[in-house]
Amino acid sequence: MSDPAPLKRVRKRHFQQARDNGIPIVGLTSYDALSAAIFDQAGIDFLLVGDSAGQVVLGYDSTVPVTVDELIPLTRAVANAAQRAFVIADLPFGSYELGPDQALQTAFRFMKETHAQAVKLEGGVRSAEQIRRIVTAGIPVMAHIGYTPQSEHQIGGHLVQGRGDAADAVLADAHAVEDAGAFAVVLEMVPSEVAKRVTESIRIPTISVGAGPHTSGQLMVWTDFAGLHGGRYPRFVKKYADLHGVLTQAVESFRNDVESGVYPAPEHEYE
Ligand code: KIV
Repeated sequence: MSDPAPLKRVRKRHFQQARDNGIPIVGLTSYDALSAAIFDQAGIDFLLVGDSAGQVVLGYDSTVPVTVDELIPLTRAVANAAQRAFVIADLPFGSYELGPDQALQTAFRFMKETHAQAVKLEGGVRSAEQIRRIVTAGIPVMAHIGYTPQSEHQIGGHLVQGRGDAADAVLADAHAVEDAGAFAVVLEMVPSEVAKRVTESIRIPTISVGAGPHTSGQLMVWTDFAGLHGGRYPRFVKKYADLHGVLTQAVESFRNDVESGVYPAPEHEYE
């Protein structure tokens, strides 16, 4: 993303500028201060404190059980650590669906208690009024359409959205969130051609999570891109490291060293 001075804070306007100038926007999720500082210093444009923390941090099997109280300290840690990256707080399931008032109250909590710079919520047409109310109150909103993990049980699993005739619904969702004032929209697990149509038919930036290359930017869950877990990875994930293997090896070395008396050595002792 265009940024004249490396340490200048990324702002909402930089998303639109990047999109208008064809400069890719790069985001990662983050849930703690140490990873946030690394990603921030490496020039990642935005950090999403996603409710994927449910699986990554809290050990749930989906994002559904995640609460506002669980996400607030994680978001605060990321916002404290990020000097340049734009920090976005994810509104968890059940914290905005009752209507615009509930959505705004939740957004206020995140803005006041975490120092994030924006919020994200799921849903297109169905969440448009919530987005409008939050934006009108002065809080930037990133929308999220296509596959929306909080609706996993309604959708019937982790399934690609927008194939065939269903593409029209994805387009309608994109237009609804743009009209409501979202500054950007995440497209999760939709066919690349549908993401291309969306990107060409709205003005705000589109951010792909498994929606192919024809978008304004890419976002990945950091524990996926870094290979931290030993489970199955979605097709769209490219693993840039094998942290699961590296950590497993390190833990085995530590255990062997302690068991064999190699650690601690004299240089690790105090006089
Ligand atoms: O919670 C999350 O990490 C997300 C991204 C996958 C978009 O919502």
